Order: sequence, then structure tokens, then C-alpha cells
Amino acid sequence: MPRTASSRVESRIQALRERIRHHEERYYVHDDPEISDAEFDALMRELGELEGAHPDLVTPDSPTQRVGGRPVEGFETARHAAPMLSLENAYSAEELGEFHARLCRALDVAEDTALPYVAELKIDGLSIALTYEHGRLTRGVTRGDGVQGEDVTPNVRVIRAIPLSLKTDPGLVEIRGEVYLPRDAFERMNTEREQAGDPVFANPRNAAAGAIRTLDTAAVARRGLRAFMYQVVRPGDAESERGSHQDVLRGLAGWGCPVEPHWEACAGLGDILAFCDRWAEQRRTLKFDTDGVVIKLDDLALRAKAGATAKCPRWAIAFKYPAEQATTRLLKIDLNVGRTGAVTPYAVLEPVVLSGTTVSKATLHNEQEIARRDLREGDMVLIEKGGEIIPKVVKAIESQRPANAVPWQMRRTCPSCDSRLVKPDDEVVWRCENASCPARIRRGLVHYASRRAMDIEGLGEERVDQLVTSGLVKDYADLYHLTVEPVAELDRMGNKSAAKLIDGIAASRNADLWRLLHGLGIRHVGEGGAQALARGFGTMDALRAASLEALKSVPDVGDVVAASVQSFFGEVKNGHLVDRLAAAGVNMAAQTAGEALGAQPFAGRTFVLTGTLGGMTREEATELITARGGKVSGSVSKKTSFVVAGTEAGSKLDKARELGVTVLDEAEFQALIMKSS
Ligand code: IVH
Repeated sequence: MPRTASSRVESRIQALRERIRHHEERYYVHDDPEISDAEFDALMRELGELEGAHPDLVTPDSPTQRVGGRPVEGFETARHAAPMLSLENAYSAEELGEFHARLCRALDVAEDTALPYVAELKIDGLSIALTYEHGRLTRGVTRGDGVQGEDVTPNVRVIRAIPLSLKTDPGLVEIRGEVYLPRDAFERMNTEREQAGDPVFANPRNAAAGAIRTLDTAAVARRGLRAFMYQVVRPGDAESERGSHQDVLRGLAGWGCPVEPHWEACAGLGDILAFCDRWAEQRRTLKFDTDGVVIKLDDLALRAKAGATAKCPRWAIAFKYPAEQATTRLLKIDLNVGRTGAVTPYAVLEPVVLSGTTVSKATLHNEQEIARRDLREGDMVLIEKGGEIIPKVVKAIESQRPANAVPWQMRRTCPSCDSRLVKPDDEVVWRCENASCPARIRRGLVHYASRRAMDIEGLGEERVDQLVTSGLVKDYADLYHLTVEPVAELDRMGNKSAAKLIDGIAASRNADLWRLLHGLGIRHVGEGGAQALARGFGTMDALRAASLEALKSVPDVGDVVAASVQSFFGEVKNGHLVDRLAAAGVNMAAQTAGEALGAQPFAGRTFVLTGTLGGMTREEATELITARGGKVSGSVSKKTSFVVAGTEAGSKLDKARELGVTVLDEAEFQALIMKSS
């Protein structure tokens, strides 16, 4: 019988969903992708288009339904079907031995019995309970206090390691596991927070907990959370008490759930100790942080027999690796001036190897902390690295204090510009309030040019340093007035690099509004906040005119961000800076707003064509530009957005380079056209 068109669409949709889930699983569960990101995106696009044309065929477990857009109002409290217990900790082989002996007694067997255990890596994240009804994910709840947690379902749905539907239908199950942030995502998150002037997270666990409780699901999706599953609870069903934990782990993997693959069956205490020993070093090669090993009785019937205390099961224990420590000399306490003017002390240490890396700096937080621990320059200090990336100074070893060591005093003037530092009574951080402070300007420029802001290639710390020191650049707007000649004269520059740098700066004129908002370095406005503001207001003018109420009404913009944005634009000099950026041709509108206005992506842009284009006539190129709302001009000026240079381009190309206008070759021009189609 011939198939109808709609059943063909349905089966194509089904096939796409299966392929997409397969590739999500390869990427997020097994870390072993089979196709490129572009190929994956093409599958997603096709599915999105088909579902767009057939909205009746959209199901909640379709991969297109992960992408969160709607903000969450707040989280409801949800009770766990069965309490989520915690684990007791063991810090040494002796304590592991005591655990084993206790368990043997509880099970009425001799203490030298090789009980069947499973050892798993302990993931430094936060525990989560996922409910699947007939194979479909219906609820995700944090552990909370173990009895009740927060219903974070919309956020769980955007974690791509977590299947929206299981490969087979196990009826009603609650799957428990750990949501975590891989090391690289953790570092990214902290860098972003640092750049937004927000306090950084001390460890991946806190960061993951912060991320899962974010009210903007799209922001959660960007964080890059992952998950591992390790437990199945079937409410009111004795099946949870049959079989082995090994079968549970294999079963979970078979359902398409992420299971940390390094678990091992261990026969008795000896195997357990060997596993813990082996992973003490090997854990550093993992992409996520692990602070220990969880040892669990393998036999589920034996587990039931061993039982639990009010808080912890008797059949499992967490072995924690000690935080690694070292002693070294605190050579000096130095000050760092941040972009927002925060002046923070840090320790300069005699280099020492800790957790496999050489450490020569450590955070000291603030003046009060240093005083509280009476840290003095010249002291021998104990430093420690736990889950954190940056080590911390635990204490000074007073018995080894040099006779001439004196209590440390924070200077009251900026180490860079010498202006007086300011600190409100209720805060701990001293600030340099001089907006022209060279250290602040340098930091600000590096941030402005960074990849997640204006993305100016070649403008890193060293170049910024040269540009500021030479006096060529005093603020962001000055960048757009740079010309090749003076830049080329800077040390180790030359014409070619200078022209390239200026091309890069010029290209940033077209950056989307959120990048500019992020780059401006408004306090508390990170990448996510900048995107929310750009989405909410569409243009810089609208944002500048916005009332506090209007700012607060934007999803994911809270009181702190709203107040900070108002105070930023309330400063006359900030207004001037933005005006100068606008006058220099920097884009002041959100691209998404432009799209909404009706396919005029080149509105406000002027193009100049020069040389011979191989693939099209000038008329065709002009047509392509004007159809997208752009203008074509015959001569190059500072206002020109792009010069499109074909072969044998002449003086217009030279002029463009001289003025720092972005030059596109034919392929780049075609790519721009494609992107804007
Ligand atoms: S089993 C009743 N397995 O560690 C036992 N927990 O310190 C439930 N954790 O609350 C936990 N990795 O959040 C288990 N492989 C693992 C784990 C793990 C990390 C967390 C979990 C638990 C905490 C206890």
C-alpha cells in the first residue's frame, strides 16, 4: 500500500530523532563523536524545519524541545519518593577497613570475607533525581535536604547528556545521578564571571549547583553541564532489591544514560584499596573533577539486609582523597587591579609542585583575610589545592617565621595610578575609582577584545600593553581611529601585522549588540546578561533610555544587573564613550532585532566594490547587497563598512587598509551573503 505524504514526514521525523539522539549520545555520553558539529547541526535543522511545518508532530521528547528559551519563574519544592541519602566519608585505608568490618558484622559474615563491591569514581557535582514515565523524562529534582528538593525540570531538559527518552520503556523509574561541570566549562564559567565583576566559584560543585538553579534555561544550556547516572529507584517495588549494582549500571547504559565508565567490580577490601590507590594520580587525566571514590556493595539483596541509618546507607562509603598540600615561601603580597577597579591581593610564592603543576601564585581574597590569618611577606606557608584550580594559602607556619617579618598592610593608593583607593564600610574590596587608570584601561581593553566580547583577533594582552603605553589608545573608541602607520612602528609589529590588526578591529564594528554590551564591561553584566539585555531592548538607544523598571522586566535581568546598567549609563563619560563608538561606525543594534524587522541584515552598512569578482558581475553583487538593505558606494571613507576586493584591486584597497576598513575577498563576501540569507 503506498504511504501517504504525512506518514512519510512522520517516519522521516522519527528517523531524524533517532539519529540525533544517537549522535548526542556519542558526543555527550561517550565523548566519542562520529560526525562533525556541522553535520549534527544540519540534522537538527532539518528536524526543526519539518516540525515547524508539522507542529502537530512535535513531541516533548524531541531533541528540538531541549533548547530552552522561556525563563523559569522560580522553582517549586518537590518531595522525593524515597529519601536521597548521603554518604559517610572515609579519609584513610584504616577508615575503609573499619567500614568493611562494620558491614561484615551487619551481614553476619567473617571480617575477612571478600564481599562483592563496586568502586566508582566520586563525581564532584550535585545529585539529581530524574523521573521517567514509560521511558520519557518527566521530572528532574535536586537533592535538596534529601527529603525534598527543587523541581528543576526545564533546566535538566537542556542537559544533552540526559536522555529525554530512554531506549526502552522500564515503566516508572527514578534515575539518580550527578550533574557536573567538566573542568573546561568550569574554567570558562569562572572567567566569564571574573570579567563581569562577579565572584568566581570556588569549585565545580558550587558552579554546577549555581548553573542548575539559573532561572534562564537558555543560559543553563550554554553552561555545558553534563551528568552521570548511578542508581535506579522503582517506587514501591521490591525489584530495586534484586540483582546486582553491576547490572544496574549496565542497564542504565543500555537505556542510553551516561554512566561513568571507570567503575570496577572489587572482591573485598584489597581490591578496593588498590582501586583507590590507582586513581589517586590517574584522576588528574579525567575531564571532570573527582574528589574520591564511592564504594558500594554490589549485591542488592545484601544492601537491603545491611540497611541504612537516618542519613546514610550502611552499604556504601565515600573515600575522599586528601587535598594536596605543600609548604613554600610567601615571597611577596602583590596587588592586582581589575577592570572594574577592584584591587585584590595575591600571593607570590617560591615555585613549588602541587598536584602535578608548578604553583607560583595563590589567591588571598582580601585585606581582612590576610589580617585574620596574619600572613606576612617572608613567611613559610602551607598551600592547598582541593577541587579548585587556583591554590589557596591555608596558614603561615609561625614557628618558621623570619625575625624581621612584619604584619602586612594594604596600601591605600592604586599600585598603577596612585589615586586613593576607596572602600565602602560594608564591603571588603578596595577599589581604584579612576576610570583613566592605565591598569584598568589595559584590563578593560583586553576584555573588550576578548573572544566572548568583540572578538578582535590579534588584540591580546601584549598588544594592548603596547597601544596603551605608546599613548595611541586611551579607550575603546580610540581603537577605531588607529591607522596602519603608527601601529606598524610599534615594537615587533611591521606593516603586515598592523594591517591585520586594524582589519580585525574594523571587523568588530559589525559585532552583534550583545558583544558590545559584554565588552563595555558594565559591572555584573556577563555574557548571558548582555544577551538578555540585547534581546530585551534591541538597540543601544532603547537600552540607554530604559527605566529601572523596564530593565528589571527583562527575563534574566535581576535587580543588581538592572541597577548596574542604570548607573553605568548615568555616568556622563560612559555616554560619551558609547556616542564615540557609534560615531566610529560600531553596530548598536541586535542582529536578532534586525531579522525581526524583515530580512534587512545589511541595513546601515555601506559596501565598496573594487577589482574583478570571478563568480558574479558588479551588478549582481550590488543587487545582493541592496536586497539586504545595504548601500553600495563608489569611494572608500571611514564610514565604509566593507570593501569587497576582487582580483587586481587597486587604490581603493590601499585606502581601505589605510583607514582600517574591513576588507573581504570574494569568498568572504559570499560567506557573508550566505549567512545573511
Ligand atoms: S551514590 C545513597 N555514587 O556524593 C548513595 N554518589 O557524598 C547515593 N556522588 O550525595 C550516592 N559520585 O551526590 C554515589 N558515583 C557516585 C557518586 C555519588 C558523586 C555524590 C552524591 C552523594 C554525595 C555523597
